[in-house]
Amino acid sequence: MLAAPATVLALWAVSAQAATNDDIAKRLEPVGKVCVQGQECKGMEVAASAGGGDAKTPDSVIAKHCNACHGTGLLGAPKVGDAAAWGERAKKEGGLDGLLAKAISGINAMPPKGTCADCSDDDLKGAIQKMSGLK
Ligand code: HEC
Repeated sequence: MLAAPATVLALWAVSAQAATNDDIAKRLEPVGKVCVQGQECKGMEVAASAGGGDAKTPDSVIAKHCNACHGTGLLGAPKVGDAAAWGERAKKEGGLDGLLAKAISGINAMPPKGTCADCSDDDLKGAIQKMSGLK
């Protein structure tokens, strides 16, 4: 049984290594808690929802991205709720889908996707419908 002492030695080495890693992990823990994507991370739920997370609504998209210009008509943007201005644009672009296409590509001073880079087409469409009152 020549192999036995070597095996024991190997196991000892592995567990000694593990203990060392545990010690290191423990020492590091108070310094910086890291949240790993896909794992629960206490305290981060609030930040996630405040940042929009995945659950975008027309209102949250407008408030975060569109309102800066469309709230006041900045740079000639059609104003939120100005049905006449939006209606005219819709007529020119061939309806809501035409407006959506322009919102995605950008038009003149209007930046692509209205600065909402992670908005889906549906997110943008919902925001346009809400701002314009178009169906
Ligand atoms: C930096 C300012 C700015 C932001 C932010 C912005 N827009 Fe605009 N938007 C404009 C301006 C300016 C126009 C008018 C462009 C023109 O016709 O010259 C416009 C026009 C549009 C139009 C009409 C396009 C057309 O074909 O007439 C749509 C639709 C639109 N914006 C959607 C959005 C949406 C949705 C958001 C938010 C996700 C958004 N915009 C954010 C400035 C902005």
